[in-house]
Amino acid sequence: MSEQHDRQFIQTFSAVLAGLVAFTVVIIILALIIHDREFDGEQSAARQAAVEERLQPVGGVYAGETGRAAAQAAAEAAAASSEPQVAFEGSTDGEMIYGRVCAACHDSGAAGAPRLVAGEMGARVADKGRETLVSNAINGINAMPARGGRSDLSDEQVAASVDYMLDQVE
Ligand code: HEC
Repeated sequence: MSEQHDRQFIQTFSAVLAGLVAFTVVIIILALIIHDREFDGEQSAARQAAVEERLQPVGGVYAGETGRAAAQAAAEAAAASSEPQVAFEGSTDGEMIYGRVCAACHDSGAAGAPRLVAGEMGARVADKGRETLVSNAINGINAMPARGGRSDLSDEQVAASVDYMLDQVE
């Protein structure tokens, strides 16, 4: 190998080394900047709290008098949150319930749902009477799902919507 060749190699090699060193320095500076921005005091406190919350045990161990009280409170809270929800907060506003639940089918006549016209719903009430229509609306009939598919509607709420429907065809 010639001396000329060696010199050229050393030059190229130094250039590559210098480039790598510069790259390392840039990476270190970037890391410092990111670290400063992401982990300053206040934010890391919030982070810490979030981590602690995620680390909470799923179940609790209760012992003694205070433990019994805590267990009871936890059981009551669980029972309260699993209480059945009544649709529309128990409202018996037939027009509102019709609009939110029944109109989907009864406005368009989807699947053969009687529309609020004399020839359809009007004919049914003349034929069967209000009581039968209410009980069929509650229990379902053919393609008509029980309670219009909203099992959280009470009997009174379904009856109120039927009354609203019948008012429209009088
Ligand atoms: C998924 C569509 C759909 C929804 C939602 C729906 N209905 Fe119906 N409804 C029908 C169909 C279809 C019929 C016709 C059933 C039959 O007689 O074959 C029907 C029939 C009825 C009848 C007549 C029953 C009879 O004995 O002739 C009443 C009353 C009624 N629906 C009330 C309601 C009320 C009140 C609601 C809302 C709480 C409601 N429907 C929501 C599809 C629906």
